[in-house]
Amino acid sequence: MKPRDTRYVCLRIAGEGGEGVISAGELLTQVAGRLGMHIQTYKTFPSEIRGGMAVYQIRVGPDVVLSQGDRLDVLVAFNREGFDRNIEELDRGGVLVYDFEEEPAHGGVSVNYPVPMGKLAVDAGSKRAKNMVALGAICELFGFPLEGMADGIRRKFGEKGEKILESNLKALELGAEYVRENITARHELRFPEGSGKPKVVLSGNEAIAFGALAAGCRFFAGYPITPATEVMEWLAKYLPRVGGALVQAEDEIASLCMCMGASFAGKTALTSTSGPGLALMTEGLGLAAMAEIPLVVVDVQRAGPSTGMPTKAEQGDLYLAIYGAHSTAKRVVIAPTGVEDAFYQTIAAFNIAVKYQTPVIILSEQSLAYSKQSMARPDFDAIEIFEEQFPPEPKGDEGWPQVDEVTMGEGYPMTPVFPRYLRTHTGVSPRSIPGMKGREYRATGLEHDEYARPRYDPKNRRAMVDKRLQKIEEIRREYGGEVEVLGEPDAEIALTSWGPTASVVRHAVMRKLSEGAPIKAFFPRMLCPMPDNAIRRQLRGVTRVIVCEMNAEGQYAKIIRHRYSQRGVYAILKDQGVPFKPGDITPYIDMALEEAMRI
Ligand code: COA
Repeated sequence: MKPRDTRYVCLRIAGEGGEGVISAGELLTQVAGRLGMHIQTYKTFPSEIRGGMAVYQIRVGPDVVLSQGDRLDVLVAFNREGFDRNIEELDRGGVLVYDFEEEPAHGGVSVNYPVPMGKLAVDAGSKRAKNMVALGAICELFGFPLEGMADGIRRKFGEKGEKILESNLKALELGAEYVRENITARHELRFPEGSGKPKVVLSGNEAIAFGALAAGCRFFAGYPITPATEVMEWLAKYLPRVGGALVQAEDEIASLCMCMGASFAGKTALTSTSGPGLALMTEGLGLAAMAEIPLVVVDVQRAGPSTGMPTKAEQGDLYLAIYGAHSTAKRVVIAPTGVEDAFYQTIAAFNIAVKYQTPVIILSEQSLAYSKQSMARPDFDAIEIFEEQFPPEPKGDEGWPQVDEVTMGEGYPMTPVFPRYLRTHTGVSPRSIPGMKGREYRATGLEHDEYARPRYDPKNRRAMVDKRLQKIEEIRREYGGEVEVLGEPDAEIALTSWGPTASVVRHAVMRKLSEGAPIKAFFPRMLCPMPDNAIRRQLRGVTRVIVCEMNAEGQYAKIIRHRYSQRGVYAILKDQGVPFKPGDITPYIDMALEEAMRI
């Protein structure tokens, strides 16, 4: 077995919901970000407000952190259950920091440090501050700056009152002091040095909300649903600062319809939801496609169906996002692979929606939504935002064609009509917003002609369906043509994936490439329309395709198999509510390589 890369450290805190596991993890992440470390975090908690297992994991390193890795270097167990349910994942020789009575029995594979976190918290003046005792111990044990952590505590609890702040600062100090005085033989494990340049650290949900703001989104309507609510919470704070508006609607149907109304009226609009909410939005998406109204919908997938496991990971909505439509209601579907990608793909989603007057779905996912990752500070001057140009007001004889020119028949008044759905070579027509003189039109869900008038004759129907499909082809050409490629161009074994799983596959492939494995990987961002030519290019000469995704049926694998008539497609699936690790994937690469050698 290859030795573990010791430059990267993975620490997990596990305890009961309500014990402050998440706050401790978030504080650690903030401080690591300020020190300039590369970070990726993972958190999961129960659906209940109190009780059940809450877990926060942070992996830090000197370079971009692609995944959570395979094993834990440090497990901080707030109680016995935290130990029992996580100890299997602690690396041989890793460090266990724990707070429970019995001596942990696990075959002596780790170095154990008992720290009486609960008791010290009471000494500090607050039972709740157990998590801060843990942070004090972590700082002292693994070379994390105590003062930086104290600053973080001041920022987090400063507004909660003097007493709470004081007890938390005291708890931090008591945790560190306990280690100093009682643990003399220390494990050599240390957190890596940060670059010293503070990093932007965002969760997937925050990155999407931030990207939306940067892209010019000025209206949001939504209905809270785990794990998407954070998008709404973030925008509730920041949208009003840029003159935008946010509405908490009564349900998802209303949310989508409000967004359509805002967009029709000229405001770039967003809604966010999860699978059950997207299901409710499908009718509205049909109207947006028919009336050609720009719109962005974020679907933060979770383990379903129905209420399912709302706080757990899954990529089960791919078919719903692509095909969940009545008739030919095409939409664009984009799946970001990480936090930084989520920021930029959201901007792309808005550009596409506005330029092509179409609904766009961003297919995010729980593990990405809750994962905090460091990213480079965006260069806003370099970001291109599509600016919609509206047609000028018609003047005299240079106005729109007369209606008789567009065959309205006898007796129809001779007034100029704005050709809202004019057929053009790209399928994109001039759009106006209410109040633009001489450019009035009715947006309708009925089939219509170029002048927005309901019309059902076969010739018109053919032309208008083609016009809407033409836009999708243009989007494929302009935005969706490429896939990210990695590895040996002529390899016979290829891996592919989408969404956050793509990042874990990237990690696994890089690991095998460094061992000299003749493999390659490709990852699309746009899943509808598919980058067909780029994928076909990657599949040329490939005998085995390993597709990794978090759902039970291999939705993307089936697309690869059927759409490209590809043989040798193997789906590696995970649907238990937890994301992939690189170690889930590498054995299959080895198996494929052995098979390949037999050919
Ligand atoms: N001193 C004072 N307050 C503290 C503290 C300390 N040392 N440590 C934590 N807290 C506060 C936190 O600020 C937080 O308060 P807030 O709610 O006002 O922000 C609260 O205690 C909970 O702590 P936190 O660390 O955020 O969470 P936790 O690890 O204890 O776990 C959850 C609790 C998150 C599991 C649970 O509350 C929850 O929200 N469950 C999920 C519910 C859900 O989404 N269900 C799905 C419905 S479909």
